[in-house]
Amino acid sequence: MQDSPRVRIWNTQLIRYAGYDTGTGIVGDPDTAALTRYCQSRGWVGEGTPFDLLPLVIQVGDREPELFELPEETVVEVPLSHPEHEWFADLELQWYAVPIVSDMILEIGGLRYPAAPFNGWYMGTEIGSRDLGDRDRYDKLPEIGERLGFETTTDRSLWKDRALTALNRAVLHSFDRHGVRIVDHHTAADQFERFEHEERAAGRSVTGDRSWLLPPNASSTTHVFHTEYDETVRTPNFFYRDASLPN
Ligand code: ARG
Repeated sequence: MQDSPRVRIWNTQLIRYAGYDTGTGIVGDPDTAALTRYCQSRGWVGEGTPFDLLPLVIQVGDREPELFELPEETVVEVPLSHPEHEWFADLELQWYAVPIVSDMILEIGGLRYPAAPFNGWYMGTEIGSRDLGDRDRYDKLPEIGERLGFETTTDRSLWKDRALTALNRAVLHSFDRHGVRIVDHHTAADQFERFEHEERAAGRSVTGDRSWLLPPNASSTTHVFHTEYDETVRTPNFFYRDASLPN
């Protein structure tokens, strides 16, 4: 299989927020710091907020990648609020509505399609636990834990668990309020359980990677936790490629 893609989208998703290295920390999404730096080296100037949309970086063959600003009106974003804590809106958090993965290679019948963006809709934990909660992403748990009045100096208060739950509730609540589709992790696990049954009933076997099927929160409350999966990788499928940036 030849490995030099003709068209390459350098963004990991078509919609993502910039991450600016200020010297004293990252403003925005640390995960995009390298791409943000590259865009800046190409003359792109972001506003400098924690939620600036990155331009698309698209490369054809060996030519220099071109930058394309996303038309602002095409991107739906959801400001976050909490159903019980009014102060939550003051954190001025938000996320975009649609995750469109654009850095994977689609393989069908031995052919590789290097520029094949695809989207679904979000599961709440992707945003509420990982994007906004991970320490190497927006890292919002300490602030939320403190606003909730929890003892954040001791793990024993389970402040992280409780802050995570509050953040996840805010994500689901806000997407619902704005009429943007999102699935919670309990419903998604139930849906997958039904899929497993239906596939078996149809005489097909199910494969899956448990580490991806398990939600990061409340995992033991889902059937996935108590199930083993055949990790065979079948095609057609999407595959990762190495992530080094253009220079
Ligand atoms: N986990 C990624 C994110 O938080 C999105 C990956 C695709 N997710 C999906 N539900 N289709 O942005």
